[in-house]
Amino acid sequence: MRKLAAGNWKMNGTSEDLAEIAKLIDAHPKPNCEMLICPPTTLLSRMADCAKGSALRVGGQDCHAHASGAHTGDISAAMLKDAGATHIILGHSERRADHGETDATVLAKAVAVQASGLVAIVCVGETEAQRDAGTTLAVIGSQLEGSLPPSLTSAPDGLVIAYEPVWAIGTGRTPTLDEVAEVHSFIRDTLVKRYGDAANEMRLLYGGSVKASNAAALFAVPHVDGALVGGASLKSADFAPIVAALAAS
Ligand code: PGA
Repeated sequence: MRKLAAGNWKMNGTSEDLAEIAKLIDAHPKPNCEMLICPPTTLLSRMADCAKGSALRVGGQDCHAHASGAHTGDISAAMLKDAGATHIILGHSERRADHGETDATVLAKAVAVQASGLVAIVCVGETEAQRDAGTTLAVIGSQLEGSLPPSLTSAPDGLVIAYEPVWAIGTGRTPTLDEVAEVHSFIRDTLVKRYGDAANEMRLLYGGSVKASNAAALFAVPHVDGALVGGASLKSADFAPIVAALAAS
């Protein structure tokens, strides 16, 4: 399995930040893992141009479930692909919270991304209240049940799951390694029940306050096959060491 270091720039970045991409490519000309940055859509095609011929892949942060049509302000998977995207993040907790995305919305988008031939990175994760109430695994189980396509229509590496505890995103707090291990092995078991042995080849990312100082420890946890990184993906100086830790894991 080729592990995946994915960066999510969220609503950050203008033209001048493309310089970070050149630095990242210089730092990792041939990484021993996949390396991905998902910039805001305004930068996507220019970033894809910068990344041409390199190991860096470029992706979207969301898409519409339909291929085209009267949906003002929305962008389809096919359009992101046309702009140079190879991956699309779906169901990030910020989309679920800010835009009312439900599991059903995420499922429809995941089906669209698979149909477009791109890799879907589907995010799941519990809130702090849900963890405190002891319902973490039930919440994750139900998000997986509702957000994932019923069958794998791509190779197993075409569908990636990112476990992102909502309370760990942008807070500097992370679950303990045992807590990460518990959730990741639960996700693996759930996927194997759903998709069969092929699910052993699906990448499971951890996301939420990943940084250079905790990356190696997180990557040593069983069934952690990479990371989805927010704040620490904006600067090459922060992201390149995370890629290095994954490549060495
Ligand atoms: P963070 O964000 O690394 O800034 O905590 C992670 C994410 O939202 O994907």
